[in-house]
Amino acid sequence: MEKLIGRNLNISIFISGRGSNLLSLIKHSKIKNSKIKINLIISNNKFSKGLEFAKKNKIKYHIIDYSKKKQAENKILGYLRKNEIDLICLAGFMKILSSDFIKKFKNPILNIHPSLLPKYKGLNTHRRAIENKDKFSGATVHLVTPKLDSGKIILQKKIKISKIDTEKTLAKKVLKIEHKLYPAAIEKFLKSLVFKEKV
Ligand code: GAR
Repeated sequence: MEKLIGRNLNISIFISGRGSNLLSLIKHSKIKNSKIKINLIISNNKFSKGLEFAKKNKIKYHIIDYSKKKQAENKILGYLRKNEIDLICLAGFMKILSSDFIKKFKNPILNIHPSLLPKYKGLNTHRRAIENKDKFSGATVHLVTPKLDSGKIILQKKIKISKIDTEKTLAKKVLKIEHKLYPAAIEKFLKSLVFKEKV
């Protein structure tokens, strides 16, 4: 990570669908003094609504056919290299990156996950929280490692689950906090690189 210090970093956001986190990051990148600079968007889904935000904001994007994972990942690595990407932020990217990809990319990868990790790794986080009658849920931004949803936590935000919450209402509440949490976590992470702080 040493080589990342002291210059603007190029960020690539990976998406698969709606792209509301991508939109919040684009909005945040426009705020004065924001360190977030989005250079490239990768989507495994040509119908991803998030691609509209890329087009509207004139951010370069690539749609990747994921039917053959190894080929798809090699193609992505090529685009990342070409665009000198320093940091990947997964924002609703519903493919699991191989350990080979993580190793070859070499730079950090962040992910936002809709639960209070280490609770509820994987899918259907809101359903599981409701079924278990949890009192709290939330969202977590963490570093990506080959072990699913298990890397170091950068930032986490907790919210209360009310008795009348359903999987749908909880998903909506958590998404709302994600939109603030992800930009804050990225800024924190970038700052930690500049000042060589521990995150
Ligand atoms: C978000 O809730 C994000 O945390 C989740 O997908 C949603 C994407 O929404 N990610 C995962 O579940 C990854 N395991 P968006 O496309 O509107 O940003």
